[in-house]
Amino acid sequence: MIKNRYFDLIDQTFYFPQEGFDIEDGNLIFNGVPLKYLINKYGTPLKLTYLPKIGTQIKKAKNMFNKARKALGYKGKYHYCYCTKSSHFSYVVQEVLRHGVELETSSSFDIDLIRNIVRKDWIDKDTIIVNNGFKTREYAQKISDLINDGFQNVIPVLDNKTELDYYEEMVKGKCNLGIRVATDEEPNFEFYTSRLGIRGSEVLNYYKERLAKNKKFKVTMLHFFVDTGIKDSIYYWGELKKAVKLYCELKKICPSLTALNIGGGMPIRNSLGFEFDYNYMVREIVNLLLSACQEEEIPEPDIFTEFGKYTVGESGALIFSVLDQKQQNDAEVWYMIDNSLITTMPDSWGIAERFILLPINKWHNEYRRVNIGGLSCDNSDYYNSEVHESQVYLPLIGKNDPEPLYLGFFHTGAYQDSLSGYGGIKHCLIPSPKHVLIYKDAKGNIVDKLYRAEQQPEEMLKILGYI
Ligand SMILES: Cc1ncc(COP(=O)(O)O)c(C=O)c1O
Repeated sequence: MIKNRYFDLIDQTFYFPQEGFDIEDGNLIFNGVPLKYLINKYGTPLKLTYLPKIGTQIKKAKNMFNKARKALGYKGKYHYCYCTKSSHFSYVVQEVLRHGVELETSSSFDIDLIRNIVRKDWIDKDTIIVNNGFKTREYAQKISDLINDGFQNVIPVLDNKTELDYYEEMVKGKCNLGIRVATDEEPNFEFYTSRLGIRGSEVLNYYKERLAKNKKFKVTMLHFFVDTGIKDSIYYWGELKKAVKLYCELKKICPSLTALNIGGGMPIRNSLGFEFDYNYMVREIVNLLLSACQEEEIPEPDIFTEFGKYTVGESGALIFSVLDQKQQNDAEVWYMIDNSLITTMPDSWGIAERFILLPINKWHNEYRRVNIGGLSCDNSDYYNSEVHESQVYLPLIGKNDPEPLYLGFFHTGAYQDSLSGYGGIKHCLIPSPKHVLIYKDAKGNIVDKLYRAEQQPEEMLKILGYI
């Protein structure tokens, strides 16, 4: 018998069920949470954050780095920094801080966020706070104020050569510093060298001329970040090797240097067929650092990472209802959803990012190729390809089906809210979905709570000056 139910398609294409995804009575379960229960309780469109995943990810990364360090006899320490830009929400920052991490900031308002969480006693003046990004005067002032107020482990990372002037002027006592070295972009990118950081060829001279004899500053960190992420590619290993070589050269003239910050970019699962050997990559990174340091006879640096997407990406999901189907020609069928893809998952439009897409119900229906259409009038408001193939298959919707088809996009927890402007005005005034948090209560039971209701017309009309 030919099996052409949606379930069979998934079962035959992927290893399924897999971590985080299972089926019960024909309906999808996400990290043990029956999504139909949430839909029945809250309705759609629905954004959800499964908070326990954040801790799992942090523990996993720490374990991998520590296991590799131990196995290879690597003497430097490992520091897990959370970069707040991937999700600034208080419940995310609170959750990451429960797992003993440090923080990375990217802009002036981020320091206001830091001040706020100090008031809440979530961190103290010893927490390492790495300050990245191009510094405006305001951002540099707020960083300097932290240092002047006794925060011991603030590390402003110089993004350019003039930034130092701010700290000369604004910091009263001594100041730790990092230097960001600009990486070369992937060969197919529009630019050859990243705009972020100081040119690799200028770092040593800059240090000698401006910092070596300056008693106020102590350079402790070299930072680099490969924007396209940690990958087992010639390009990635090439950039890492260059950064490690520079670290070794700088260490020889800068004894205070102790840390190499390799940035973010650890990938997450964006398809059920996702394959990435995390343990291998981490071990190879640690190994590369160790070999280079042994060859140059310098102590191994402490390794800092700033994983954003890896920390929060897999905690997020978006659930929509299919409102209707439209057959626009013989080949093209549209499933029209009750929100906008372009505004709610801006990366799917802006950088063609793919997320795990699965139906919540109707897994026993036959499947068909479809295009998913959003509610805005923009012709870019669609989703019709996956990582593993340039099409999307979903269950057929029968004319007499008693309930709509529900769709979930998974692992959407990083960056989408900041890019979309959570709760702001939206393209075609399509509102932000309601937002539900799922977390463990004091007794360890999984509970759900409405964090924010669906955006109301008055909220947008107010921003727009009508009320
Ligand atoms: C300096 C720096 N660190 C860390 C990150 C986080 O990257 P990811 O979310 O891919 O881990 C970014 C992302 O833009 C970054 O610019």
